[in-house]
Amino acid sequence: MSELMTRKSNPLRLGVNIDHVATIRNARGGAFPDPVRAAKLAEDAGADGITAHLREDRRHISDSDIERLTDALVVPLNFEMAATDEMLEIALKYKPHAACIVPEKREELTTEGGLDAIGGHNHLKPYIDELTRAGIRVSLFLDPNPAQLDAAVSLGAPVVELHTGAYCEARQVARERELERIVAAAAHADQVGLECHAGHGLTFETVTPVAVIPNIVELNIGHFLVGEAIFGGLDSAIKRMRALMDQARAESSGTLSA
Ligand code: PXP
Repeated sequence: MSELMTRKSNPLRLGVNIDHVATIRNARGGAFPDPVRAAKLAEDAGADGITAHLREDRRHISDSDIERLTDALVVPLNFEMAATDEMLEIALKYKPHAACIVPEKREELTTEGGLDAIGGHNHLKPYIDELTRAGIRVSLFLDPNPAQLDAAVSLGAPVVELHTGAYCEARQVARERELERIVAAAAHADQVGLECHAGHGLTFETVTPVAVIPNIVELNIGHFLVGEAIFGGLDSAIKRMRALMDQARAESSGTLSA
């Protein structure tokens, strides 16, 4: 487990992704709303870390956002990046606490699936090695598939983030099936010595069944929180998410009195 991102009172860490504050800013150009201000507010509201994805097309977070986040944050920065030379150079320049390697296609609306750590072994290996040598904790964003987790081990990545998008998008029985895949993958991650995170598409409605999974130590959540902020403020959205996560965790470990 990454000591820096551990909060004793919060065994399940919340990483707040502020990409879509930048999406709104970029819709008009200019400086408002400022994702760095949102990140500082998220810190105060109980975020254990901040996540930002610098995309190749810079559709939301910009290079200067990464520079300003590096200067401003007290909690660790999780830098989401594609495995490209350009992103590696930026990661090595700013040395975030963690780097989460994601697949990236220009035409996609969001990160639509996990990395192929099996087929992409030879491409990914040098990026993971260089980031690791620089002291950056590498995670791989993967679909909840045990074979992909085994590939993460053989690549030397210490952390995986399980893609929860299919679970969040599915309904009823299909959602239950997707949840079972996440539960099994998280248990497998534990068995093979990987630190396990999860994220993508999580909401107040979908977070609890994921938060109770004991092998998961961090959730990364962004789009829903930024959307909720329109109605009740970012502070209140983060605090409610944090409370749901804490409650789920306490109930699953039997520490909540009846
Ligand atoms: N984790 C990863 C690796 C992601 O790419 C994203 C989306 O940028 C998230 C978590 C957060 O997803 P969402 O914005 O849907 O909460």
